[in-house]
Amino acid sequence: MSVLRTLYIRLKSLLPESVRDALSAINQRFFARATLLRKYGEWYEVDWRKKFTTLSEEEWRRAYDEAWRHRKNDCVEETDAEMIIAALGERGSVLEVGAGMGSLAIRLAQRGFTVTGLDVSAEALNLARENARKQAVSVEWRQGFAESLPFPDKSFDYVTCCHTLEHVKDLTKATSELKRVARRKVIVLAPKQKFRLYADNYHTQFFERQNHLADVFGLKQFDCREIDCFDHKNEFQGKAFLYVGYIA
Ligand SMILES: C[S@@+](CC[C@H](N)C(=O)[O-])C[C@H]1O[C@@H](n2cnc3c(N)ncnc32)[C@H](O)[C@@H]1O
Repeated sequence: MSVLRTLYIRLKSLLPESVRDALSAINQRFFARATLLRKYGEWYEVDWRKKFTTLSEEEWRRAYDEAWRHRKNDCVEETDAEMIIAALGERGSVLEVGAGMGSLAIRLAQRGFTVTGLDVSAEALNLARENARKQAVSVEWRQGFAESLPFPDKSFDYVTCCHTLEHVKDLTKATSELKRVARRKVIVLAPKQKFRLYADNYHTQFFERQNHLADVFGLKQFDCREIDCFDHKNEFQGKAFLYVGYIA
């Protein structure tokens, strides 16, 4: 991520919301779709948000495999990982849902947690396995969907889900599955975003307000705060929410 791009994103965030919305509407109407096709080419599912509800599990897996083959989508930065580790607290077992290429899962394993990493994409899991092998850490990798986790109730002390809840097809199912398999805490990191039809990601869920995450989880005890990720070097730059839900 270049300094100029960071500066551009930060300056844009300082504009009044109405101006940002107007600029975004113009971009969406006239430029965004063509820009994405030019940037990524035919493999990119530019109309994802129009069609994701109709996709089968197999089509979903294939789309993410294809995405991972073309683009290494690593989002969790060291500072995010440290915040998550602090929020987890005591060592125990963790299920990392939407583990991608394994960065957070590997870091948690290095810090003494017993980690299982799950992702829908076999391509992502191959990268994760290779990264774990290079760093000589042990993580169990599983392929599966957040909406139907292949584990019994209360299998893990903690469930983490970073930059993935915004990708799921069914938010209600996914949040209820994250809670079902957790004994102590569910920790979610998700971007603060408004809906845009065309963007360089396959987001399907949009969290504009802190309450939104709290509402979908419906847990009585939780902390949720907005965090600034503008200076991040990885895939994601912007504002995000860090949600910690306590299982009663
Ligand atoms: C933006 S990446 C985030 C990866 C990683 N957590 C990170 O922060 O770098 C989103 C991940 O979600 C996975 N994914 C998409 N839909 C999913 C679903 N329904 N269940 C589980 N994983 C899913 C994708 O394969 C991808 O690895």
